[in-house]
Amino acid sequence: MLEISGLSKSYGPVHALTDVSFRAERGKVTALLGENGAGKSTLVKILSGLITPTDGAIRLDGEQVDLSTPERAGRSGVAVVQQEISVLPNLTVAENFLLAQPSRWLPRRAAPALCKPYLQRLGLGHVDPATSVGDLTIGERQLVEIARMLAQDARVLVLDEPTAALADSDIVLVHEAVRRLASEGNIVLYITHRLNELDEICDQAVVLRNGRLADQFATGDATIARVVHAMIGRNLEELYPGGGKGKPAASPAVRLKDSLTAGLAAPVSLDLRPGEVVATCGQLGSGFVEPLRAIAGVSRMSGGAVEFESERTKAGVAYCSDDRQLDGFFRDLPVWESLSAPGLAASGLWGIVSASGLRRSVEGIAERMTILPAYRERPVRALSGGNAQKVSIGKWLSNNPRVLLLQEPTRGVDVGARAEIYRLLRALADEGLAVLFASTDLDEVLGFGERVLVFHNNRLVHEAPAGTLSRDALATWITHGGLDRE
Ligand SMILES: Nc1ncnc2c1ncn2[C@@H]1O[C@H](COP(=O)(O)OP(=O)(O)OP(=O)(O)O)[C@@H](O)[C@H]1O
Ligand SMILES: [Mg+2]
Repeated sequence: MLEISGLSKSYGPVHALTDVSFRAERGKVTALLGENGAGKSTLVKILSGLITPTDGAIRLDGEQVDLSTPERAGRSGVAVVQQEISVLPNLTVAENFLLAQPSRWLPRRAAPALCKPYLQRLGLGHVDPATSVGDLTIGERQLVEIARMLAQDARVLVLDEPTAALADSDIVLVHEAVRRLASEGNIVLYITHRLNELDEICDQAVVLRNGRLADQFATGDATIARVVHAMIGRNLEELYPGGGKGKPAASPAVRLKDSLTAGLAAPVSLDLRPGEVVATCGQLGSGFVEPLRAIAGVSRMSGGAVEFESERTKAGVAYCSDDRQLDGFFRDLPVWESLSAPGLAASGLWGIVSASGLRRSVEGIAERMTILPAYRERPVRALSGGNAQKVSIGKWLSNNPRVLLLQEPTRGVDVGARAEIYRLLRALADEGLAVLFASTDLDEVLGFGERVLVFHNNRLVHEAPAGTLSRDALATWITHGGLDRE
């Protein structure tokens, strides 16, 4: 039994956690829920020895545990998958495994053999332990991180949004691993914003709001409505805003004509009209992000063409990729500066910009992205994961884009803020923005996309209005490339 009592953590005036107490039992998966900034990762960082609490105690099987450094936390039997991917890109997969074995002496050459079985368990059998982590996709890095945790032989396993960057088929593997860990008698703390995971793998749930304990329950007893209410303090009527107001314009803002890139095995054609919200989906590595990358000019075209309605449209393309750590924002500058950066760049070399004018121009964006006023002055590194995500999308809106390309637009964003973001993007589309998003979240694809493009094995295999697809049919298209499950 893991017992957390009276846990508090302040960063100066910011109370990230206040007097939180709960218990997590052996053999069970305990979900830790709460909106962005609620304090979940703060709790995780305390358990992993990265930060020290201001107050409170943590006991494991009745005994106080020493969590004063990450190494001691590891020795106490706590293994953690952090929210921000923390495997090191310049090291190999095997070396990253070695790093997470603080209490064991292992020769370097033993590392590949150590990690192989864990990689296999998470569907990474094809990954050579000698590969640099930097050469893996974000999803693969996340799986390596989870595999590395499995190898740690811990009693308490803490996973901070482990599936946020993963597609359904990989999520299944993570769920199997997590269930197995629990059934072996371990304590598992599981953080997620994908609320359907509650029923799928969690036994009980603890909800934080503004750093305090808001609710706790056995998952069988709770409806999603109760969970959402506990998280955001109000009821949520509709997550998705529904279809667009008018018909999208007749002529496309951008058109892919038999476009071919290194990530595609067959040419793809696509018309994206002003006023439309179009989704692409598929398994990781299936090519479903290629249309966005081709339009953004990130992937080199090896055939076909990208045609823009006008030079103005071409200049108005904004691409928000899924590697936020790399290109999402300036970590050490105040949030409002990240938000204003694209607008600033577009104002040109001779444009005269006043800091206060710039500030004002981003206030509206921050408001609409539900980034609280207090957060706008902070450096991005002091924001929770979901709030940082809002900054990385919001900054593109300061530039009045004509075509918005988003990869995993709401990864790690809580349900309440997601509803706001969908509504905002829908309103911008109604004003003539063309939106193309790539997502592994099937509910989002069907709920927010109007038209859906499915990719399988680097080919576009299906295109349909979202309203004509069931979730099951979509999942089958994604995993099998057709509706026959052979
Ligand atoms: N280094 C820091 N300095 C100041 N405030 C911080 C720091 N780290 C976190 N905070 C604040 O602590 C609060 C809790 O953040 P935390 O990361 O625990 O949220 P979270 O529940 O994990 O949210 P998310 O779902 O977005 O990941 C937030 O208000 C955040 O801005
Ligand atoms: Mg977090």
